[in-house]
Amino acid sequence: MQTDKIYVIDFGGQYAHLIAAKVRRAGVLAEIRQPEDPDEAYSDARGIIISGSPALASHGEDADYNKGIFDLPIPILGFCFGHQEIAKHYGGEVEHGGRQWGFSELKFSGDHPLFKGLGPSETVWMSHYDSVTAIGPGFVELGHTEGTREAPDHRFAAIANDELHRYGFQFHPEVDDTAHGDEMIANFVFGICGCEKSWDMATFLDAELGRIREQVGDGSVFLLASGGVDSTVAAAVLGKALGPERLHLLHVDNGMMRKDESAAVLELFADLGLDKHLHFADASDTFLQALGQTIEPEAKRKIIGETFIEVFDDKANELGIQEYLLGQGTIYPDTVETGGTKRADTIKTHHNRVQVIEDLIARGRVVEPLSELYKVEVRELGESLGIDHSALWRHPFPGPGLGVRCLCSDGTPDTAHFDELLPELAAVAGRYGVQALALPIRSVGVKADLRAYEHPVLLSGSDDWELLREAVSAITSKVAHINRCVLHLGGGEPSGATVLSGYMDRKRLDTLREADAMVMAGLERHGIYDEIWQCPTVLVPLQLAGSEGEMVVLRPIRSERAMTATAVELPGALVEELREGILALDGVGSLTLDLTSKPPGTIEWE
Ligand code: XMP
Repeated sequence: MQTDKIYVIDFGGQYAHLIAAKVRRAGVLAEIRQPEDPDEAYSDARGIIISGSPALASHGEDADYNKGIFDLPIPILGFCFGHQEIAKHYGGEVEHGGRQWGFSELKFSGDHPLFKGLGPSETVWMSHYDSVTAIGPGFVELGHTEGTREAPDHRFAAIANDELHRYGFQFHPEVDDTAHGDEMIANFVFGICGCEKSWDMATFLDAELGRIREQVGDGSVFLLASGGVDSTVAAAVLGKALGPERLHLLHVDNGMMRKDESAAVLELFADLGLDKHLHFADASDTFLQALGQTIEPEAKRKIIGETFIEVFDDKANELGIQEYLLGQGTIYPDTVETGGTKRADTIKTHHNRVQVIEDLIARGRVVEPLSELYKVEVRELGESLGIDHSALWRHPFPGPGLGVRCLCSDGTPDTAHFDELLPELAAVAGRYGVQALALPIRSVGVKADLRAYEHPVLLSGSDDWELLREAVSAITSKVAHINRCVLHLGGGEPSGATVLSGYMDRKRLDTLREADAMVMAGLERHGIYDEIWQCPTVLVPLQLAGSEGEMVVLRPIRSERAMTATAVELPGALVEELREGILALDGVGSLTLDLTSKPPGTIEWE
């Protein structure tokens, strides 16, 4: 059967693959192409979408791609960098400036088929440093974004040349935060490109089962199974493809698991009937020894990922199954955030993408049934395989576990950029009437598709959520070297903070485990566990003035695919209970709530 196809040119934006997922979700096959691919790579295309990029169009970065695409007689739509490249190619101008992250309100200039069925204005999601400042002949502005307190109106947020079928959006319709982004993509795919529906999850599963059987041949798979959503669904898919006899599962306790997690995981696999060959390794000593006094987040992640493989190899040797392929529940964001696509920047190295694993992948020794999917598709696939709702809708928990939520320091304050940022911070915070304290440690974030390892700011003096949201957006976009804001909830005075020394040791991990268990139980008790997508609890070696002990951060977020996220408010009564419980823990001095969206923060702090 001939199916319609859309190609997505991947310039390394964090969301390039998400565009393809969204086109498939609309019901049309979408595949990724590289910018240098020749015209022939598009011979059966009904349309092309050009992704965003960590490169700057204003500086001519990554400009050496196949421009022959612009001579193809098919519609082309660009997002962010793609939008800017289209504008430039047809005589428009792009300048460095007008940066925005987060929500904007898009005002349409009139009706257009790309915005069929939508409103006179729409909420859209922005993440960019460059902007289109002029459009070429034949192009019109379809919409602009409304100004905010901090920034004037933003022209040319959507542009079109209907005669040439060339279109561009400065915003990202592919991320779930653009309220009607799916409709915009569907309007392009069906209305502009004229595609017909021909793809669904059952088609994916069939193709994937075939692919696994071909790769594994008459061999077997040894799957690293943390018991999270991804490894559970991966186990079910592999079980279906190969049968339970040819699937071994290994659950490792790395010392950074949640409270009582390993026992619950072993029970879960037994309930799913996947315990024919279920193995367990308590490797907590090995992991904690390997981490020692390591502080730098990427170094920690690499040690954790490599230790998993050491433990896995030891177990395989012990069981005499060294020739089995390594199975992993890797999903697409793990690859893209690790910089695993040709141009993507490394935001953070996911535990299942460290070098030893990359080497195994290159040798065809790794099976990853979910590597093309996002969490929301993994859950959908899990449902189609009959996995229990409660197993599928557990909050995501990262492979390195509490390891990426337990920040480490030798006690040296990190203030190299403070002279530059403090005056700017005071000015912006002052406009919102909030107190702001720059914190002398750093956490990982993502800005305009690039890793940002920058400072958090502690806010206090207001509990007006709307005002705080605006203040966070202004601070993180206007003040250099800041990527997060947290709100003071209790413990000590938010007027000063000193850095403590703290490493990955059992005592700190136990404290964090207790705090995390209180948060999870609290979400359940207040009936909001399902409503909140994920709620990491983070231990930060900072002591606020007038307190004794470290800072705990609550990070409740809403998301769908983990590529973007928004912070959510917790009910007052729950905050009260957590304040009391967590501040009473040995070693904890203060409690805060992370108010940052992704971008510019990431969900986890490391
Ligand atoms: P970030 O922090 O990058 O997280 O916004 C996105 C999602 O991925 C999870 N996460 C990981 N999952 N291995 C995983 O399996 C990892 O190394 C890892 N790091 C982050 C994170 O919990 C969130 O759901």
